Amino acid sequence: MKIAVFAGDGIGPEVTREAVRVLEALDLPGLVLFEGDVGGIAYKRHGHPLPAETLQIARACDAILFGAVGDPDCDNLERHLRPEQAILGLRKELGLFANLRPAKVFAGLEDASALRPEVASQIDLLIVRELNGDVYFGEKGIRTLPDGRRQGWDMMSYAEDEVRRIAHVAFRAAMGRGKKLCSVDKANVLETSQVWRDVMIEVARDYPEVELSHMYVDNAAMQLVRNPGQFDVVVTGNLFGDILSDQASMCVGSIGLLASASLSDGKMGLYEPIHGSAPDIAGKGLANPMATILSAAMLLRHSLGLEAQAAQIEAAVAKALADGIRGGDLGGSQGTAAIGDAVLERL
Ligand code: NAD
Ligand code: IPM
Ligand code: MN
Repeated sequence: MKIAVFAGDGIGPEVTREAVRVLEALDLPGLVLFEGDVGGIAYKRHGHPLPAETLQIARACDAILFGAVGDPDCDNLERHLRPEQAILGLRKELGLFANLRPAKVFAGLEDASALRPEVASQIDLLIVRELNGDVYFGEKGIRTLPDGRRQGWDMMSYAEDEVRRIAHVAFRAAMGRGKKLCSVDKANVLETSQVWRDVMIEVARDYPEVELSHMYVDNAAMQLVRNPGQFDVVVTGNLFGDILSDQASMCVGSIGLLASASLSDGKMGLYEPIHGSAPDIAGKGLANPMATILSAAMLLRHSLGLEAQAAQIEAAVAKALADGIRGGDLGGSQGTAAIGDAVLERL
């Protein structure tokens, strides 16, 4: 069981350290960890945010535990050298097209939600975000128009096979949950979304037990705060999924709680918190590591088939929260290491 650990920038190393402590505490026979540089730190050390050595480590491993990338010092580099290219490059190079972002309210945390407790307590949803296509990976550029104005442009597209494979992931996920799937698009305006919706309807024929609905993304953003309990599985494209999952995090309490799995057709997966490098709190020991610890649990479940150990980690996090352990993001005062200690004690 080889796991690549790519901690990255900002709070990435701080939160990853706690997740690694949790993995090591499980004493899994045959578990070996391999570290690699990604993001701004990799650019500074090797001249590239995703060095060839790092990609080689990734390919040689069964799964990747990823912290975060992003460094304000690098925001003006040419785009292909920016830290964010490390995560985009890994997703593309390894064919990690299916991003699972579960959001569920932990018992005792209803009051931490940005929503009223009785609304928040209903949340138990899974966002299935497509991760290899959309406007993220289309051609893009900045050009000068004949009249001298600068114009930025980004090509948005989805081919039917790209939609079909994420549709199957989402329908299968729905089969394993409440059998409700809501596809989120902008088919009233975008042709990309029209193809998306048409393919969702086609694939639905293979899953007669799943109730498929469609929602425009603007309405979905509104419904997510009005009545998030209506959602079971949500499937959407790369850009909409990015935005809606950050929003979902505040519905359950904090972005420091939401984990994710990025999966390919095989067993290879990348596991990371949905948050970024949080430069505003980096280096201060203030970040909540729970999202990363929960990502390590998803790693055990999806890439290593260790369901019991995954559930054990999730139970330890839930117990810590139920016992009142709170980072600053949840209005508490526990720091990164103290939260890690609290989870370890309960493991
Ligand atoms: P962010 O998620 O890093 O931070 C947003 C806000 O949430 C900040 O106030 C931050 O302090 C807070 N926050 C985030 N994670 C937290 C945690 N674990 N505990 C407590 N508070 C937390 O988003 P941003 O500020 O828009 O982006 C910062 C950098 O991260 C950018 O360079 C961006 O491109 C990058 N980014 C990377 C990833 C990734 O690596 N997958 C994801 C998102 C953003
Ligand atoms: C995420 C992040 C990334 C994305 C960035 C850092 C490229 O926001 O994982 O949610 O947009 O996918
Ligand atoms: Mn994001």
